[in-house]
Amino acid sequence: MSKVISIINQKGGVGKTTSTINLGCALANQGQKILLIDLDPQGNASTGLGIEPSTRLRTIYEFLLNPDLDPSSFIISSNIENLDVITANVDLSGLETEVAENNKRAFFLKDIVAKINEKSEYNHILIDCPPSLSLLTIMALVASNNVIIPLQTEFFALEGVSQLIKTIERVKQNLNTSLDIQGVILTMYDKRNKLCSQVESEARRYFEDKVYKSVIPRNVRISEAPSHGVPVIEYDKNCTGTIAYENLAKEVLEQYNNNNVAA
Ligand SMILES: Nc1ncnc2c1ncn2[C@@H]1O[C@H](COP(=O)(O)OP(=O)(O)O)[C@@H](O)[C@H]1O
Ligand SMILES: [Mg+2]
Repeated sequence: MSKVISIINQKGGVGKTTSTINLGCALANQGQKILLIDLDPQGNASTGLGIEPSTRLRTIYEFLLNPDLDPSSFIISSNIENLDVITANVDLSGLETEVAENNKRAFFLKDIVAKINEKSEYNHILIDCPPSLSLLTIMALVASNNVIIPLQTEFFALEGVSQLIKTIERVKQNLNTSLDIQGVILTMYDKRNKLCSQVESEARRYFEDKVYKSVIPRNVRISEAPSHGVPVIEYDKNCTGTIAYENLAKEVLEQYNNNNVAA
């Protein structure tokens, strides 16, 4: 069975999509078979992998509303070996109101993931969540074994974290008892900025050994890559951002070897 991981933080711009794409690509390069589900109506993960909106014919929105359709008609291969994608577009923003009356709605994504697992053998399914704690994020939490939280190393990094943890705990109690926090990624770290090391200490105090040792630096190559439709790992194989995400992927795989997370 694949390990399903949601990349989650209700704040926008903290590095969720960047981390989903690059962790996914780094894991794929290390021989893992990866499916990335874009669950954000902004569709940034799809764009960042070079899939233009006009070519996203069947998106996660349609799949969520038609779970009986064949998963393979929604899964497309990216330009990266071992990395497949289910795309999103702005249609997804209407889903919440459309399914408001359906009392099974929190389980829609979980059902889809089960279908995908019946037919294919992904090692990991990574879900790029939207910047909110709305239905889409709840669906992702219900469908996941674990969550990874990116934190931008800036002054307000931990603001909102208690609300995020409360949401995870609530889902764990009511909808998905095995849900767990797998790790916390510190993103956009600038070692010349004293504040970053303060935020790092604070995050490590709060989340203890859940915080990955591999910290993602602020790196202009990371921010350039999406406009070329490729992960930074493909865009510049030697930059500091690439090396950080490759190390992060190794750390994630080691967690399974060390039994630090439920498989
Ligand atoms: N380590 C980094 N260094 C420089 N820019 C980054 C880094 N991580 C993300 N960015 C940029 O910051 C912006 C927000 O990142 P993104 O991953 O889209 O956040 P989110 O998905 O949480 O909204 C994007 O323009 C992205 O290219
Ligand atoms: Mg995003």
